[in-house]
Amino acid sequence: MKATSVAWAVSAVLFCTAHAAGVPKTCTDYDIPVTITSPNFGFPINRFKTDFDVADFLDTLTSRNKNVSFSVITLPGTTVTKTYTISATFCRPGHAPPDPAEDYTVIIATHGLNFDRRYWDPELDKKKYSFVEWALSQNYSIFYYDRLGVGKSEQVSGYVAQLPNQVAILTELVKLVKSGIYVGKTGKPTHTVLLGHSFGSALSMQALGLNHNLVDGLVLTGFSSNGTYVNPFGFATAIAPRIAAQQQPGKWRQLDTGYLTGADLFTSVAAFFKAPYYDVTVARYADDHKFPFAVGELITTNAVSKYPFNFTGAALILTGKYDLIYCTSDCDGGVLVNPIKDVFTRTRSFKTVSFPKAGHALNLHLNAASSFKVITDFLRKNGL
Ligand SMILES: *[C@@H]1O[C@H](CO)[C@@H](O)[C@H](O)[C@H]1NC(C)=O
Ligand SMILES: *[C@@H]1O[C@H](CO)[C@@H](O)[C@H](O)[C@H]1NC(C)=O
Ligand SMILES: *[C@@H]1O[C@H](CO)[C@@H](O)[C@H](O)[C@H]1NC(C)=O
Ligand SMILES: *[C@@H]1O[C@H](CO)[C@@H](O)[C@H](O)[C@H]1NC(C)=O
Repeated sequence: MKATSVAWAVSAVLFCTAHAAGVPKTCTDYDIPVTITSPNFGFPINRFKTDFDVADFLDTLTSRNKNVSFSVITLPGTTVTKTYTISATFCRPGHAPPDPAEDYTVIIATHGLNFDRRYWDPELDKKKYSFVEWALSQNYSIFYYDRLGVGKSEQVSGYVAQLPNQVAILTELVKLVKSGIYVGKTGKPTHTVLLGHSFGSALSMQALGLNHNLVDGLVLTGFSSNGTYVNPFGFATAIAPRIAAQQQPGKWRQLDTGYLTGADLFTSVAAFFKAPYYDVTVARYADDHKFPFAVGELITTNAVSKYPFNFTGAALILTGKYDLIYCTSDCDGGVLVNPIKDVFTRTRSFKTVSFPKAGHALNLHLNAASSFKVITDFLRKNGL
């Protein structure tokens, strides 16, 4: 895996009614068949049998002499067409039937590695930690889903799930949402916005890079394209990956050995949190509800190769100041804006925020709610 600098290297329908205590909302769960064609990478690694293999893989991956064969970008791809079932939730504000004449914006949210879609709506104090509830309270609708291989979406091999197929799935989901399918009874949205966290931001960037008119707004959290400080090996080292099925067979025996997960609570904390800006019970919750990631995703996190130079919508990059993974633990000093500002020259509005008092999983820090407000304020200011 290579920290490519932008600098040019490269349905089943279930209804869930609102919780009495939360904001008024109407949510629909969907199982969505998605047919995609994607240029997948082939990986020059042997399947892991034990954690000894994973440990050695980590040495190779992070070695200063790593062989170029690990640069997946140089590997010949194979074009693969497949249909997968993706599990998603759409929520709109309020209980009343939608007014068909009303303008509305759908935020399409993609979570990152180690989480499932509950990253956007954890079973924690909703006022503090639920982006979904915040967005609904601000009259935004939201469509959020489990990535392929994760949560309730279709299971695949951890040697198959990777950036290109996840990008193709996201792109298809956006098209379906824009055509008014999978948005309850609200009809075609007026505007759509891509929202990502971490690997979900990489997927959103690449999806828009491949199709500059895909959406009207782009919000990337836990993300940077500054190749000087993007730190995937720091992540791989901090998280200390283990074979998920062997770590917790009760939960994950069905996943193949390509699915990895952090060694323990403290490796999750090292990768995702910054003290003293989080509540330990929240870190424990995050670790108890983590979901393994595919080795194919791990080695393609930085395989973003297309950038939306002609995007004329609004773009926001919002990353915790202490983000280990994307800023080597300090996003201040122009790290977020360089060199990506050269991509967003045609945008209506482009803004970067190094968000104080937070690490990588910024939705799980004590000040998460103020980061949610930065996002919706930005969208509203830009007519979205
Ligand atoms: C990587 O390995 C291949 C095959 O083993 C070899 O041909 C190539 O020279 C190596 N490249 C580097 C940069 O070490
Ligand atoms: C949301 O929409 C309702 C109904 O149109 C309106 O009364 C309320 O002020 C709006 N809230 C915000 C935060 O825009
Ligand atoms: C951007 O749009 C211009 C036309 O306005 C086109 O010539 C150019 O190829 C586009 N660039 C990309 C990267 O799509
Ligand atoms: C990363 O950000 C720093 C600070 O703005 C800048 O000096 C450096 O050139 C950037 N790296 C790249 C690859 O643009």
